Amino acid sequence: MLNLGVNVDHVATVRQARLAESPSPLEAAALAEAGGAWGITAHLREDRRHIQDHDIRELVRQVRRLNMEMAVTEEMVRIASEVRPHSCCLVPEKRRELTTEGGLDVAGQQEKVRDAVTRLKAAGIVVSLFIDPDFNQLDAAAAVGGDYVELHTGTYSNTTGTARAAELERLKRAAEHAAALGLRVNAGHGIDYRNIGGILEIPHLCELNIGHCIVGRAIMVGMEQATREMVELMKPYRG
Ligand code: PXP
Repeated sequence: MLNLGVNVDHVATVRQARLAESPSPLEAAALAEAGGAWGITAHLREDRRHIQDHDIRELVRQVRRLNMEMAVTEEMVRIASEVRPHSCCLVPEKRRELTTEGGLDVAGQQEKVRDAVTRLKAAGIVVSLFIDPDFNQLDAAAAVGGDYVELHTGTYSNTTGTARAAELERLKRAAEHAAALGLRVNAGHGIDYRNIGGILEIPHLCELNIGHCIVGRAIMVGMEQATREMVELMKPYRG
């Protein structure tokens, strides 16, 4: 079975646009769970542009499984080790980006990533590394002790035609290689109700992390329904 992690960052984006108290990512998370979400994902960015520290603390208490996305920094490792979400996904972070751009360069900073992975695992947290579907990065992810990799599907999502087909082949080969290395495999970024068909061809997937399109759809039909529609599309997955 393929699990859905719903990213609630953009519920907080709307709230922060007015520095108001609503809409609440906690309420959205509860509705996403009611719609069939296996987990909830939230990215505590260094600039706190959407999710705030108190959101992470409250989500950890309220939801079944919180996956905290975070940069590999001393501050984030300290916060995660203290609040202890179910899992952490380590991502690259640039101040001016609109969203995460590209995967984490694990191969180029193995010691720093290994240190973060070791400390998070010692706190009882499952660790995932968000990387491009690149064998060199996969080998490094295994070498630093990651439990999961989350394959970056942004290039697949942002292309069409032969470029998309080629990227899908790359994702499939990466998933096979990850499984052979003993890594568990998630995927995320830019997945939506229309492009998910190809994603379901990738083998060995445990979980998809999807945010923007579900929150966008939720504005029209509500969070529970928007989540349920995605869960239905994921049901044919056969691994
Ligand atoms: N996975 C990771 C690591 C991400 O950084 C993001 C974006 O926050 C997502 C998944 C979800 O991407 P999207 O909002 O495009 O569905």
